[in-house]
Amino acid sequence: MTHSAQKTQKNLYIKTWGCQMNVYDSHRISDVLKPLGYTLSDTPENADMIVLNTCHIREKATEKVFSELGRLKPYKEEQQKKTESRVLLAVAGCVAQAEGNIITERAPYVDLVFGPQTYHRLPEMVSRLTGERRKKRVIDTDFPVESKFDSLPEEQNSQGAAAFLSIQEGCDKFCTFCVVPYTRGAEYSRSLQSIVDEAHKLVDQGAKEINLLGQNVNAYHGEGLNGSTANLPDLLYALSKIEGLERLRYTTSHPRDMDDLLIQAHGDLEKLMPFLHLPIQSGSDKILDAMNRKHTSDHYRESIQKLRKARPDIAMSSDIIVGFPGETDEDFEETMQLVRDIDFASCYSFKYSARPGTPAAAMQNLVREDVKTERLTRLQELISEQQYTYNKTFMGKTIPILFDRKGKEGSKSAGFIQGRSPYNHAIHVKGQDRLIGQIVDVHITQTRPSSLSGDIVTSEYESSDLKTVVGQN
Ligand code: 5AD
Ligand code: SF4
Repeated sequence: MTHSAQKTQKNLYIKTWGCQMNVYDSHRISDVLKPLGYTLSDTPENADMIVLNTCHIREKATEKVFSELGRLKPYKEEQQKKTESRVLLAVAGCVAQAEGNIITERAPYVDLVFGPQTYHRLPEMVSRLTGERRKKRVIDTDFPVESKFDSLPEEQNSQGAAAFLSIQEGCDKFCTFCVVPYTRGAEYSRSLQSIVDEAHKLVDQGAKEINLLGQNVNAYHGEGLNGSTANLPDLLYALSKIEGLERLRYTTSHPRDMDDLLIQAHGDLEKLMPFLHLPIQSGSDKILDAMNRKHTSDHYRESIQKLRKARPDIAMSSDIIVGFPGETDEDFEETMQLVRDIDFASCYSFKYSARPGTPAAAMQNLVREDVKTERLTRLQELISEQQYTYNKTFMGKTIPILFDRKGKEGSKSAGFIQGRSPYNHAIHVKGQDRLIGQIVDVHITQTRPSSLSGDIVTSEYESSDLKTVVGQN
């Protein structure tokens, strides 16, 4: 077998944890490795390179990485024996960025550690590990001056009907509990033109929906046209003109950056889906201040009021932390009240966990673990109730669903096709595979706490227009 023939047959296995930005990064990592002959595989068996793309946002992240490394080590050894060539085991993402040295100390069989800002340099790293004067190990957790976006290959593997597009990275907000400003670095926004170009390519490859990603996506301020600076509304209006692109979303936003122009875009742009994830973190102004959130609970309430005025059917989602240092029963009750007032369509909630190196990790007035557990249980009960009540309002309605995948073999959804409603519900129905990649009306016949199901609309149901459907809410 020639050297180049070997190259064309390499298998790449990537396991991804965490946010959608990590999912996007994993796609791009495989794009970078493709010219080197690596093809994505969905199993670690026979893999010539294994990448763990990790998340550091909450506790136990590092332990999960070590236990996965232990599980994957035999695959590496087996494949090395079989192919008589080096199999690369890599740790990427935010745990790599934050704890690179600890990883190689505790798992010396790891070949490669790289952070979220350096994966465009992978060809060079791989050649240092597999070339003639092969290095034992490569660690690259820099924050390089060059932007990775300028060096990533233009060629991308198709992401299918619902694609992610990273437009902004890093964060300058420094919430006291959060590791992101340390693992992802300072805020950086790509230029409007480069994003529009990438969006066109995704649409050419079959994307009907694009979800714009950024750690602080509504703080986007990239280079615009003719030397101007573009903000997120500018970008949304520009992208909405792309023919064939039917749906736009963006995530994750900060309440401070939810300005009137962006709110107006929700009213103006039919393509901008009526769903917004806007983390509040706490309903208590005292705790929001200790978190350095730079907004109050009233400011949040006002933004939601304006959003609902601009787009009455908008579904609101959020993140909440319970048990932040100093959170009293009264503070927690304020969070419960805020959740009651807003009435979320969905909401994620977490117990506070100290992250090494963050300001909150040095705070003294900790909340007891059993108190945190009790608060989280109460909050989650309230949220589940709201979410189920919201989902039930869709019973008997007809909504357009973008189908983007088949149900996984061996899972409960096997034999179904899966997609998303405009309001971000997960939906599965019995339908033909040819509907994947299309937006199809579905008559909802079953509602569950976290998903809906129904039947593809044929002539027996009238297809209704989105706003009419929701007007019945
Ligand atoms: N403890 C608990 N939850 C956290 N989050 C971020 N950092 C922490 C932490 N130290 C939550 C926030 C954020 C979401 C992605 O994770 O709610 O919005
Ligand atoms: Fe973390 Fe706060 Fe930045 Fe969000 S806004 S990424 S929570 S520091």
